[in-house]
Amino acid sequence: MFSKLAKVAGIFSEAMRDAVLFLRFNSYSPFVDPSKRAFYKILIEAHTIEKGLSLPDPKPLFGKDKIRFVMNALSRYDIGYSTVPAHMSLGALEAYASFHAKAGLSDPLLDEIAAFLKAWESRVPRPWKGGTREVSFQEQMPEDLPHLLASRSSIRAMRPTPLPGDRIVEAIAQAQQAPSQCNRQASRVHVYQDRARIQELLALQGGSRGFAPTVGNLFVVSSDICAWGGPGQRNQAYVDGALFAMCLMFACRSMGWGACPLNLAIDHKTESAIRRVGGIPAGERLIMMIAFGEPIAPQTRVAFSPRRPAAEIATLHA
Ligand SMILES: Cc1cc2nc3c(=O)[nH]c(=O)nc-3n(C[C@H](O)[C@H](O)[C@H](O)COP(=O)(O)O)c2cc1C
Repeated sequence: MFSKLAKVAGIFSEAMRDAVLFLRFNSYSPFVDPSKRAFYKILIEAHTIEKGLSLPDPKPLFGKDKIRFVMNALSRYDIGYSTVPAHMSLGALEAYASFHAKAGLSDPLLDEIAAFLKAWESRVPRPWKGGTREVSFQEQMPEDLPHLLASRSSIRAMRPTPLPGDRIVEAIAQAQQAPSQCNRQASRVHVYQDRARIQELLALQGGSRGFAPTVGNLFVVSSDICAWGGPGQRNQAYVDGALFAMCLMFACRSMGWGACPLNLAIDHKTESAIRRVGGIPAGERLIMMIAFGEPIAPQTRVAFSPRRPAAEIATLHA
């Protein structure tokens, strides 16, 4: 009895400590290094430009405010911290400019971008790692791991045609190779192909604007909370669930489908609404959605989303 009470008390006290840790170090915290905060902010905003360009039908002159924000933020940013935000922003701006040049459009914003890029050429030499790139669905799946890893990309231009159920189950079976703590296998996956229901779910998710109408196949990955107990395990549903989701995205790739992870960074109210629309039991924690389907073309334009040099994220301890 005592140990059960201690567990309950532990769950509350760990939740409190989680809140304190998050408050101290989250992106709005004044106690965090401003360069680090600027680094993430620029990456996130520059991504909206590359993402806009990877949509099936980008709107001319989309995201004017974002463009100006990225240029201003980069002007104030200390590139000594990392050049990645500069590469990502400059690459995205250059791709934005060339997209509009190809469409024969002119606008004062495009002139501003051209001047901005010229000014940055000497500070961060080309080629800039950013913008968009092409992914091929024609070639055979690479057999070696580095190429296989590099061959996956978030695809936001898909055909809405529902995929055959047996192939979807095959992909899910492949994803079940994901490891899980003590082989719990608590990950769950809900599959939707009804267009109206998918649109309702995507409206609650909110991160698929610009390509939601083309989504005809949707996974919601969840994790059975019952597999976990005690304060130390409070976040493990997300760990196992995310590993499963990653394997599911690779399984989609191996099937020749495009897939795009969709965040469920949501509050309890929205999580409940998604459960209600999706017919998902109350005891499952929602991990993420994945839109998937046949790619719109064998050569598909995707956001570049450059990666940081490994040395920037690794600490080799003695
Ligand atoms: C948990 C998670 C949530 C994501 N949510 C969204 C989303 O809501 N909308 C979207 O278009 N992309 C989303 N993405 C895709 C990322 O933008 C993408 O993974 C990132 O830019 C790296 O690019 P890549 O997947 O092409 O390698 C998400 C990715 C992850 C891992």
